[in-house]
Amino acid sequence: MQKRLFLHAIALASLTATGAMAQDNTFKIGLILPMTGQQATTGRQIEAAVRLYMAQNGDTVAGKKIQLIVKDDTSLPDATRRLAQELVVNDKVNVLAGFGITPSALATAPIATQSKTPMVVMAAATSSITQASPYIVRTSFTLPQASVALADWAPKNGIKKVVTLVSDYGPGIDAEKFFKERLTFNGGQVTESLRVPLRGPDFAPFLQKVRDAKPDALFVFVPSGAGAAVMKQFAERGLDKAGIKLIGTGDVTDDDQLNDMGDVAVGVVTSHHYSAAHPSAMNKKFVEAFGKANKGLRPNFMAVGGYDGMRVIYEALKTSKGQGGGDALLAAMKGQIFESPRGKMFIDAQTRDVVQDIYLRKVERKDGQLYNVEFDVIKDVKDPGKAK
Ligand code: PHB
Repeated sequence: MQKRLFLHAIALASLTATGAMAQDNTFKIGLILPMTGQQATTGRQIEAAVRLYMAQNGDTVAGKKIQLIVKDDTSLPDATRRLAQELVVNDKVNVLAGFGITPSALATAPIATQSKTPMVVMAAATSSITQASPYIVRTSFTLPQASVALADWAPKNGIKKVVTLVSDYGPGIDAEKFFKERLTFNGGQVTESLRVPLRGPDFAPFLQKVRDAKPDALFVFVPSGAGAAVMKQFAERGLDKAGIKLIGTGDVTDDDQLNDMGDVAVGVVTSHHYSAAHPSAMNKKFVEAFGKANKGLRPNFMAVGGYDGMRVIYEALKTSKGQGGGDALLAAMKGQIFESPRGKMFIDAQTRDVVQDIYLRKVERKDGQLYNVEFDVIKDVKDPGKAK
């Protein structure tokens, strides 16, 4: 009897050991995205890119099986925070990733800090996000990074008087501020700054105001997914016919929607870090593989943030060999330099933010399709927001 009990105990112990080993051999990524609601295109693009990266690079890294857990936060920051908490406490994820909008990233930052879990921001783009936790690494972009290039281009191209129109929250306020400062420095003038609500905006009354003000150009920032509505209203109110140019960060001519925007989009100049038309061999392969895996869907800048975020996670896991927990993983994320479908990029070890080329692009029709065609580049742009 005694002996049988003893054997039973040994069997149980070894079972537990196997169980623990199985868990140790799993590397969990908690991917929180807006899969429904106003930002659903961001979720769809990033999830597709993450799955493409895994399909191309395998799901075993440094001897660990990668397990992806996708959660829909419907782009509500309270939901993001709750889901992040559950992923850390119950699922014991090794990394948190995703974050479609700035409020979602900011709501999660304290959880990353307290649990020492690296948090890879693949979408949200307000400059200050990386300062909200030492565990945040960003693979998307920042609005100051994208806006300054356009404020250098505009006055050299006959655009002196500009009205700005931005979504009234973090990234919009960054875009407004950095565009205005740089344009003013270059001898131009922002004559009026308009802000529209993030949720359910009606652009029509604002655009009517712009039409009456008759600036040389309207500078726009709206988050990915809202660009087509702005473009439609811009045409319907006759701003293009009135000779007002539309310029903005590339969020407004988002590759996810651009092809359906029609003639009004042709000629629109934007500045951004990614275009599906970026003419590198790596990008051509990326666009083709992404389309093949997703019924012809064209990747946008959100997709590239997700794809590169996975690269940063995979390489950090290889370097740290899965040892040393969140701190070792974070250390191996800092300083990574690599070629992305967007061009060369770099995770600055000091700021944990992305350093990358910013392109000036013009919407053109190529083979019957609308694309953001790059015509100039500013190399290795650090986030100008960090110097403040
Ligand atoms: C953000 O909320 O930080 C954000 C969302 C969508 C964008 C850019 C920034 O296109």
